[in-house]
Amino acid sequence: MKRQRVIFLLLALTALIWSTRLPMTIPADASEPLEEETKFVALTFDDGPRSDTTPRLLDGLRERGASATFFLVGQQLAGNEALVQRMKDEGHQVGNHTWSHVELQGATEATVRTEVGKTDAALTAILGEGEYWVRPPYGLLDSEQQKLFSVPLVHWYVDPQDWKLRNTDADVKAVLSKVQPGDIILMHDTVPASVDAALRIVDALEAKGYQFVTVKELLALYGVTPKAGTMYRSAEVVAEY
Ligand code: NI
Repeated sequence: MKRQRVIFLLLALTALIWSTRLPMTIPADASEPLEEETKFVALTFDDGPRSDTTPRLLDGLRERGASATFFLVGQQLAGNEALVQRMKDEGHQVGNHTWSHVELQGATEATVRTEVGKTDAALTAILGEGEYWVRPPYGLLDSEQQKLFSVPLVHWYVDPQDWKLRNTDADVKAVLSKVQPGDIILMHDTVPASVDAALRIVDALEAKGYQFVTVKELLALYGVTPKAGTMYRSAEVVAEY
């Protein structure tokens, strides 16, 4: 008798759980999304790689399941090959930030070709054939110069001026007060305070339903077909000169 009662109670309990759970699988209102829409954003890091700051950023991004885009300076690649390979292996996008971080705007065509070409060759030597998108230093380029590029160009929409502030709290505030889905955020993995800020930004935005993707992924997710020589500031805004 005792065992029968236990079985009855278990059956009753199971029925109760089913009756309360079942309705939850049916949307109460079809116009209401079941879960919050995912918002995508692209974190980009310029001026690296730097052996004493970049690995900590990569560790933090990996822990958080976040992807980013790194625009690397060619003359800093020697000795950091393993770090660059790690970026690619961990799903990040690797891009070109010229050989010597020279301002390209106003420079000769030969300078543009050398600065970009040397870095492209060095990245190809480390990572193999690929499309290494370009971010011109300071985001500056003449509109005529844009035609020289065979890959898309990347500007930014959110610039916390982290290289100048060198203050984690200020960086975090500057980004969180401005960022919108589809934005490209500019930061520098060469600055220790920026590494801390970037990881706090990832935590804060992931909690709000954001997902961190590469620039290439961001454009694809928003249905943008990237074009060579076009400068992108966000998934929706093309830089105009
Ligand atoms: Ni730079």
